[in-house]
Amino acid sequence: MSIANSWLICLVGIFSIVLRVEASTFCNATQACPEDKPCCSQYGECGTGQYCLNNCDVRFSFSHDSCMPVPICKSSSTKFKDYSSKLGDANTFLGNVSEADWLYTGNVLDYDDEESLILAMPKNSGGTVLSSTRAVWYGKVSARMKTSHLGGVVTGFILYSGAGDEIDYEFVGADLETAQTNFYWEGVLNYTNSANISTTDTFEEYHTYELDWHEDYATWSVDGVVGRSLYKNQTYNATTKSYQYPQTPSKVDISIWPGGNSTNAPGTIAWSGGEINWDAADISDPGYYYAIINEINITCYDPPSAAKKNGTSAYVYTSSEEFLAKDIAITDDEVMMDTDEGSGLNPHKGATTSSSAQKSSSSTSASSDHSTSTKKSSKATSTVSSSSSSSSSTTKDGDKAVSTVSSSATSQTASSASGSASSSASASSSASASSSASSMSGHNMGANVAANWGLTAFGVLLGYIL
Ligand SMILES: *[C@@H]1O[C@H](CO)[C@@H](O)[C@H](O)[C@H]1NC(C)=O
Ligand SMILES: *[C@@H]1O[C@H](CO)[C@@H](O)[C@H](O)[C@H]1NC(C)=O
Ligand SMILES: *[C@@H]1O[C@H](CO)[C@@H](O)[C@H](O)[C@H]1NC(C)=O
Ligand SMILES: *[C@@H]1O[C@H](CO)[C@@H](O)[C@H](O)[C@H]1NC(C)=O
Ligand SMILES: *[C@@H]1O[C@H](CO)[C@@H](O)[C@H](O)[C@H]1NC(C)=O
Ligand SMILES: *[C@@H]1O[C@H](CO)[C@@H](O)[C@H](O)[C@H]1NC(C)=O
Ligand SMILES: *[C@@H]1O[C@H](CO)[C@@H](O)[C@H](O)[C@H]1NC(C)=O
Ligand SMILES: *[C@@H]1O[C@H](CO)[C@@H](O)[C@H](O)[C@H]1NC(C)=O
Ligand SMILES: *[C@@H]1O[C@H](CO)[C@@H](O)[C@H](O)[C@H]1NC(C)=O
Repeated sequence: MSIANSWLICLVGIFSIVLRVEASTFCNATQACPEDKPCCSQYGECGTGQYCLNNCDVRFSFSHDSCMPVPICKSSSTKFKDYSSKLGDANTFLGNVSEADWLYTGNVLDYDDEESLILAMPKNSGGTVLSSTRAVWYGKVSARMKTSHLGGVVTGFILYSGAGDEIDYEFVGADLETAQTNFYWEGVLNYTNSANISTTDTFEEYHTYELDWHEDYATWSVDGVVGRSLYKNQTYNATTKSYQYPQTPSKVDISIWPGGNSTNAPGTIAWSGGEINWDAADISDPGYYYAIINEINITCYDPPSAAKKNGTSAYVYTSSEEFLAKDIAITDDEVMMDTDEGSGLNPHKGATTSSSAQKSSSSTSASSDHSTSTKKSSKATSTVSSSSSSSSSTTKDGDKAVSTVSSSATSQTASSASGSASSSASASSSASASSSASSMSGHNMGANVAANWGLTAFGVLLGYIL
């Protein structure tokens, strides 16, 4: 594969990272966020703005209405041809779903040869996540894609909710003939829920992976053939007298992440196929590990007939005690903030003083960099990947690839969905099993990993500025 690189670094984003890193307040099962930083991010850090969007965790936020209401499902079919300019930047997105159907964190490029989008993972980076701006409750999602390859490189395709529910596919680069499937209810670790579906070369060949999620059952299908079914009634827990079945509005995340990075937990490294080789051929040409997304279809199903309805545009949680399907209402509450000081508690916060800042911070990086010069871009590339060799990546005529580099150093950026990062680690290792005395340790570990990645990426970017 040959891909021209033209990278753009968003300096505004870098400075906001400094603030975020210095001001970290963590959240978990035993400690919710304070009122002035009410939202618990997917990676276990408290804040406002983007912390309240995407996969803001309702369980550990200040209150059930701290996270922003989640935009309602809308059926769509997205071909990722020439698409990078249409992506929103998750680090500046304020919730305007008219601006973008998909957000990115990390590095994305158009891949003209295959009319697809590349999710790239340069040397020592935390990888890349593509996420939907809307949630599904319930629905069918199918993705035509190629995974990455080689040990330690993980590609994920998951449905993930703000309550820690998850239905997923994960592909470890060391085994290209297996689609691993799993599900989680409220982030509770269960080491017996994973199952494999056999397939053929997931790296060389496009396959269509589907998650068909209904109120009472879910299926995982590869190329139209059901490989796994799960019935809600199989998940009944007699002790808690509840169904431990994924049941809250979930966003679609597709990611590439370094499960085998040497700083990860031993269990994560082992599960992902061993330590990642950051000097593999892909790192010199095209300059990064990559997964390729060609098309994603989303078909929305009706919400549960018993769902509380007072509107048609957003999902909101109605209880701070429980986070089940019965605790979701459909309303017309606002899904957009005015500034990154906003939250579900006050989406307009900061509006009068920083309305201009809001405009300039909207997701423009992706669309403005088509004309980025090669010189600037190759410099930026080598910086982001901190790999001098990658600046010499080949540039074949005809591949008019475009890349965007977000302020990927924020802790919100780095990994795949925490559910996926943490759960895979735990599910695959006795080492992390022993450290999971508390029910949420998997997610906490995900948070720590993400925080490390954020700091690392920050150092790399700072090096570039200096
Ligand atoms: C939650 O976070 C607090 C403060 O960061 C920490 O002291 C505590 O051990 C954490 N609890 C769990 C269950 O991880
Ligand atoms: C949301 O984005 C659309 C498309 O860019 C724009 O026309 C609209 O004004 C935005 N809405 C608000 C409230 O900013
Ligand atoms: C990967 O491990 C290296 C050390 O080998 C470390 O410097 C870097 O921060 C780690 N990157 C991520 C994304 O965890
Ligand atoms: C998406 O839907 C279109 C139209 O039904 C179909 O042709 C295409 O194969 C679907 N793609 C995926 C990835 O499911
Ligand atoms: C799935 O396949 C992987 C190898 O890719 C293996 O390590 C794992 O044990 C399998 N899981 C199950 C549940 O069979
Ligand atoms: C679960 O539900 C399915 C379909 O509704 C049914 O066929 C099956 O018998 C049920 N299983 C149990 C254990 O109740
Ligand atoms: C894990 O899930 C399975 C199936 O839902 C269930 O039978 C089992 O009891 C669960 N185990 C734990 C420890 O929750
Ligand atoms: C029931 O749920 C509790 C709390 O999540 C969990 O500790 C326990 O292992 C579950 N039991 C089964 C049989 O799934
Ligand atoms: C329904 O929504 C409207 C505004 O959208 C609000 O004024 C009203 O209080 C809501 N009703 C209930 C029962 O929540």
